[in-house]
This record gives sequence, C-alpha cells and structure tokens, in this order.
Amino acid sequence: MSRQPDTFPPDPPPAMPARRKLLMAGAVKTLMDEGKVLHWGLSEMGINTLKRAHATLPVTAVQSEYSMLWRGPEQHVLPVCDALGIGFVPWSPLGVQFLTGWIDEKTRFAPGDIRALESRFSPENLPHNLQIVALLKTWAARKNAAPGQVALAWLLARKPWIVPIPGTTNRDHMLQNTAAAALHFTPAEMAGLTTALEAITVRGQRLPDAVQVYSDVDAPVARLMNPAN
Ligand SMILES: NC(=O)c1ccc[n+]([C@@H]2O[C@H](COP(=O)([O-])OP(=O)(O)OC[C@H]3O[C@@H](n4cnc5c(N)ncnc54)[C@H](OP(=O)(O)O)[C@@H]3O)[C@@H](O)[C@H]2O)c1
Repeated sequence: MSRQPDTFPPDPPPAMPARRKLLMAGAVKTLMDEGKVLHWGLSEMGINTLKRAHATLPVTAVQSEYSMLWRGPEQHVLPVCDALGIGFVPWSPLGVQFLTGWIDEKTRFAPGDIRALESRFSPENLPHNLQIVALLKTWAARKNAAPGQVALAWLLARKPWIVPIPGTTNRDHMLQNTAAAALHFTPAEMAGLTTALEAITVRGQRLPDAVQVYSDVDAPVARLMNPAN
C-alpha cells in the first residue's frame, strides 16, 4: 500500500504525518541526547519506514496488532524486527476480548465500540471465527488454563522478544493475564496448536477501511531524508 499517514488513531490532517515522521527520529534523538528519552518505537508503520527509521535512530520496539486472531505482522514486520534486533509489542493480544471466550455468536457490540465496525465480529462471520475460540478452549482444558492465557502464552512462545500488552479494567483479569507468563508449551504442543490454528481462516477484516488505510503506510523517502522540506 502507498497511502497516507501511519499513525493510530488517525487524527492528523493528511499532509502532516510524513513531515511529522521525518522529524520524529531527529526529535527523539535530541531528547535522547538530553537524557529525557531512553527508548522509542513505532506503531502500525510501513515496513520501509521502519527500516529507514531504524537506520536513523535504532528503534527499541514496534507495537502493532498481533494475536491468534490477526497474524499480519508475521509477513514482513516480525522478520525485520528479528533481523534488526527490534522488540515487538502485540496490541490487542486477546483479539479485543475475542480470544478470552467472552464473545459468542450472539454477541453484538454497542454503537461506539469499534468492534461493531470490524467485520471479523459481524453476525455473519462470528460463528465461523469462533472456531479459534473452540480451539483455545480445548487447549485451555488440556493446560488447566483460561483460553485467554493460552492465547497470550502462544504469543510469548513465538519469540523471546515478543511482549504482549493485554488491556483490562478488571483486577482479576489482570492477574489471570499476568499468570499466562507461567504457561509454557513444549515444541510439539506449540507446533500442534499453531498447525490447528492455521487450519482456520479468519473471515472478515480486522479494522474498518477508514482505519485500516492508516496502517502499513510508508512515509515518502524524500521527506524522511530531508527534514528541511
Ligand atoms: N498502538 C495501537 O495502535 C493500539 C491500538 C489498540 C490498542 N492498543 C493498546 O493495546 C493494549 C491492549 O489492547 P486492547 O485492550 O485493545 O485489546 P485486548 O488486550 O486484546 O483485549 C482487551 C479486552 O479483553 C478484555 N479482557 C482482558 N483480559 C481478560 C480476561 N482475562 N478475561 C476476559 N476478558 C478479558 C477486556 O475487558 P475487561 O476490561 O473487562 O477485562 C477488554 O475488553 C492496550 O493497552 C491498548 O492501549 C494499541
């Protein structure tokens, strides 16, 4: 894709993000030199933007959506992170609650809840996609864990530099999610779980078009390389 900005949420006017991005690495470098910033990262950026930014100022971590429900980063982002030594922070690692088993075929989302606009959660696609939850429940029973813990442990087992950040407003959920770090798979278990997951093709889009267009977008090279423009 070669569309406009790559920030999330998509708030800036169309002409701004490229300029802002090109200034960003230099601005952060200045703050690092002043001891005000230790680490920095990018989110949902285009892959070439990541490479160029890293060449300008080593990127600590990338934060993009990644879970058993959305595995897009496996195509390009994770290999680049691996090659360049960049950490990866999966956002919505619980599939925006889907992978916890708290969403079923009757679930409908209130106006204002972005999941109402994500076709992967539409009434047409939910029943099919719930195969992943059924798989998680099978493994949860096998591992004496909650489905969401299996989903988090799967992410943790992918690479040692992958660190998911589940979101919650509930203390019990927070404790359950944190405990997923103690859940481990043997290599054979991991292979079996991943193979079973790959047999399920997720139906529907992860984001509405109006939001998706801001993801996986590269900043124009000339602007990134020339802060004076
Ligand atoms: N960089 C970006 O573009 C971007 C975009 C989106 C999100 N994020 C960040 O990613 C983080 C997590 O993403 P997220 O909150 O969207 O999605 P998530 O972590 O996949 O799921 C959060 C949802 O799951 C529920 N939940 C959490 N733990 C649970 C449990 N153990 N059992 C049952 N339900 C549970 C939460 O409800 P309860 O509150 O009831 O537990 C909430 O509805 C957040 O810190 C967010 O700021 C970043």
